[in-house]
Amino acid sequence: MNLLLIRNVRVVDAQGEWRGDVAIRDGVFAALGRDFSWPGALVLDGEGRTFLPGFVDLHAHFRDPGFPKKEDLQTGSWAAAHGGFTAVSVMANTNPPCDSPDVARYILEKARSLGLVEIYPVGAITVGLRGEKLTDFPALAPFVWAFSDDGKGVERADLMAQALRLATSLGKRILSHPEFSGLERDLAEELMVERDLHLAQATGGFLHLQHLSSPRSVEMVQKAKAAGVPVTAEVTPHHLCLSREAFGEYAVNPPLPREEARLALVRAFLRGAFEAVATDHAPHTAQDKAQGAPGISGIETAFPLLFTNFVRQGLLSLSELSRYLSLGPARIMGLRKGLVRVGYDGDGVLVEEDESFVVDENFFFSKSRNTPIVGTRLWGRIWATIRRGVVIFWNGHVLGRDYDDHRQVIQKS
Ligand code: DOR
Repeated sequence: MNLLLIRNVRVVDAQGEWRGDVAIRDGVFAALGRDFSWPGALVLDGEGRTFLPGFVDLHAHFRDPGFPKKEDLQTGSWAAAHGGFTAVSVMANTNPPCDSPDVARYILEKARSLGLVEIYPVGAITVGLRGEKLTDFPALAPFVWAFSDDGKGVERADLMAQALRLATSLGKRILSHPEFSGLERDLAEELMVERDLHLAQATGGFLHLQHLSSPRSVEMVQKAKAAGVPVTAEVTPHHLCLSREAFGEYAVNPPLPREEARLALVRAFLRGAFEAVATDHAPHTAQDKAQGAPGISGIETAFPLLFTNFVRQGLLSLSELSRYLSLGPARIMGLRKGLVRVGYDGDGVLVEEDESFVVDENFFFSKSRNTPIVGTRLWGRIWATIRRGVVIFWNGHVLGRDYDDHRQVIQKS
């Protein structure tokens, strides 16, 4: 039996906060309250720390198969665990792309053998991500939770309409990277958001819009929701926190917003316009980055960046942040995660709210360090990450999958 007890800790989730003990038995929250004594349990001292449900990332690139110099499933999992994430949805723009059951199965099997974070593959909408022909949705459906050509938009409206119908008939979502090629930034996004909202309304298909960056897109989504269109939307930490004025023209898709647009995005976020914050963790080698590859390696800095800019500034409570990093994305993915509640998956993060650190070269477990915030001081250090009752990250170290191993490491210290 695997028993983990976190004692005397401040517990915060999307439904509120309390102080006491959290017990995880065989991977699920089994008891919540005060002063338990569980013989044989591994005990973590929560004094001075805050326990949150594990974070769920709707959107990451682990580059496996195909780009081992940027990242692979192992280093991506290390980075996720370091960032407090226990479940990660990985995009299909690998090489080969995840457009066949073979690739999806490879990802699932490798993730299972690593035994760190849970990895949920996304299947490509079109064969080879070429935007010409739909993949075999029914064949992919048993292995993926959603479909997306993320990295680029699906330009053809007829394919997107078919994709929405087919995915929904299989109980899956379509994740749209809303960006027409060859158009200027805001127009490229807003036009595809508008089209996809129309298509979702016409087909009744479940649409999730990825990394929205234009306040006008968000307004359209709000109106569509009010009209009953089945749509959800995510925003990234970098689009919320980093402006073009402050961080130059750091390459990322969609591009960083100007300060005025960023503030409008923040206002929309604070009004509850998004169901989730997703990292769009997009690791690139220094060489690829120098040649203009778009993307920010962000899964390790997501929580501290948001905690520093929103919670410490008094804009958002930690409970609200937990909704965006855990419950919101877990609901979109249909996972029994995101709350510290008996019967839910025993995934959690122990955070040191008053500990600050500088994001330096040694901070990263990812293979890539492409972020414009190197050198920045952030608050909210992740002290431990627990996935189904197993401590997978602890005090600066990624631990193995084995419960007895991690027990030894923790008890010896
Ligand atoms: O900046 C980005 N990088 N945006 C995307 O949509 C794709 C990602 C990547 O795969 O590098």
